[in-house]
Amino acid sequence: MILMNWLNALKTQQTRSRPPSVTVVVDGTPRQAWAGQSVAAVLVAAGIWALGCNPVTGQPRGPFCGMGVCLECRVTIDGCPGTPACTEHVADGMDIRTALAVFPESTESGGADA
Ligand code: FES
Repeated sequence: MILMNWLNALKTQQTRSRPPSVTVVVDGTPRQAWAGQSVAAVLVAAGIWALGCNPVTGQPRGPFCGMGVCLECRVTIDGCPGTPACTEHVADGMDIRTALAVFPESTESGGADA
């Protein structure tokens, strides 16, 4: 009985602590995310590691530092290019474009070389 009470309390706590779900559009595909998640976390969870590309070589780039320093994770958000995905939080209806959408020939390998 004590175990059941504990499990029910845990389940209630988990339900309460979840942030609301939002829908973002990644390269034209709608995806579910938790409000407050970083854009980089949503993309990596979707298996998308090539977020941007080197402007000179076209080499795909992915998140490296995860804290807004290296700028290897730049994406286009709501038409604003060069936005660091790791420091931007998702919002409902956000339009996110990765290197795959902007430079499809540069990410044919599907992976970043960060
Ligand atoms: S991963 Fe370094 S700035 Fe985003």
